[in-house]
Amino acid sequence: MVAVLEIAGYAIVGGALLEVAFGLFGMLRRQVERARHDRAEEALFRRRSQALLSAAEARRETAELSWTGFRKFEIVDKVMEAEGICSFYLRPHDRMPLPPFEPGQHLTFRLRIPNQAKPVVRCYSLSEAPSRREVYRITIKRVPPPPNEPEAPPGLCSDFFHDSLQVGDIVEVQAPSGGFCLDRTRETPIVLIGGGIGLTPLLSMLNSIHDSGSEREVWFFYGARHGGEHVMKEHLRRIAAGAPNVHLVVCYSEPRAQDRLGEDYDRAGHISVAMMRERLGAANYDFYLCGPPPMMSSVTADLAEWGIPESAIHFEAFGPATVKRARPAASAESVTEVEVVFARSGKTARWTAEVGSLLDLAEANGVAIEFGCRAGSCGTCSTALREGEVDYLSRPGSPPERGSCLSCVAVPKGRIVLDA
Ligand SMILES: Cc1cc2nc3c(=O)[nH]c(=O)nc-3n(C[C@H](O)[C@H](O)[C@H](O)COP(=O)(O)OP(=O)(O)OC[C@H]3O[C@@H](n4cnc5c(N)ncnc54)[C@H](O)[C@@H]3O)c2cc1C
Ligand code: FES
Repeated sequence: MVAVLEIAGYAIVGGALLEVAFGLFGMLRRQVERARHDRAEEALFRRRSQALLSAAEARRETAELSWTGFRKFEIVDKVMEAEGICSFYLRPHDRMPLPPFEPGQHLTFRLRIPNQAKPVVRCYSLSEAPSRREVYRITIKRVPPPPNEPEAPPGLCSDFFHDSLQVGDIVEVQAPSGGFCLDRTRETPIVLIGGGIGLTPLLSMLNSIHDSGSEREVWFFYGARHGGEHVMKEHLRRIAAGAPNVHLVVCYSEPRAQDRLGEDYDRAGHISVAMMRERLGAANYDFYLCGPPPMMSSVTADLAEWGIPESAIHFEAFGPATVKRARPAASAESVTEVEVVFARSGKTARWTAEVGSLLDLAEANGVAIEFGCRAGSCGTCSTALREGEVDYLSRPGSPPERGSCLSCVAVPKGRIVLDA
């Protein structure tokens, strides 16, 4: 009987001790978890504060070092990146320091091309991270004639860059601009989607995240036709291999016999949202897109269908400059038929949604307005508004001066008088 009581006593004491031990263990585990959580929070707070400080410093430097109008730059290096794709490194001719820029922004060039009556204006995205401050880099693809017009002349400026401009030559450049930028003060996960030469602004975004040591989750979906046009292959693979937060998916739409699936590229076919959904699972990303028009329209439509809010879809189009873009759809707010007066030319025209932008209307009526990008990015088509107001078909990358409008992307809100 005594023995039984003793055993029961031991069992009770043992149980109590075990309970205490479990309790202590649980408390210890919670403390370790809390400490780990606090450390992660602290690191996040430190990174955020650092990002905010850097952003404030960049704004100060931009205000101090930026310039208005065109500045002379010397081409200091020219590097072939893939078939028909070449990078140009530019150093300011005055050797004064360069202002920082936001990853995703572009430079606007004014080129004096032989046999052209006037200087030609084109935009090219900065393809390197802003942390590389001694030179700017742009990466340009040669533009062939459209497939249905093989007799047409090839792209004027891209050819001029590739064939005529050499190391030591001088080009005229506006300060970095454009609203298609990565918000570097945030840590939220992002998806970069680049088709063809549209990878350039996204490359700048990726490099800037990588250079900063940020652990922000990045998915980079890059589409090229085949290995011959695969830009900066080693660089991209190296970043993805060395950074657990960076995931690279390369798609070839027309792989060649020598292109190896699993080594040179990850998927055959075009980039699609279905493929992204397989890899991403959740939809809580910010999406940044740049590429050819068919890719842009299909991907943006499918992202919207997936339920991605408009505010999380950021894109830029490299609108063809010489050839007019397809007629843009009328904005919801714009009225259907409006009188537009071109005051200096003494002409009056009727604008309807079918006409397109005010630049299209001017051209259709023989009114000359200078233009460069036809995409609201370079500011060349800026025209003073004497009366009335305009709407924009797409948000201008370089905001117009007060009292002016960017006619290549503007439509009238009501009767307007333009100084053209
Ligand atoms: C914000 C922004 C950033 C950009 N970033 C980059 C970048 O990083 N890299 C890059 O490579 N590009 C970029 N671009 C595109 C670039 O600005 C030019 O549009 C591109 O280089 C083509 O210009 P181009 O002068 O060579 O061709 P254009 O002379 O403008 O010709 C365009 C097309 O029209 C055809 N064409 C010309 N004349 C005729 C005719 N008479 N009849 C029929 N067809 C004709 C040409 O063959 C060509 O296919 C960017 C554009 C923007 C707006
Ligand atoms: S032509 Fe470049 S902004 Fe209009």
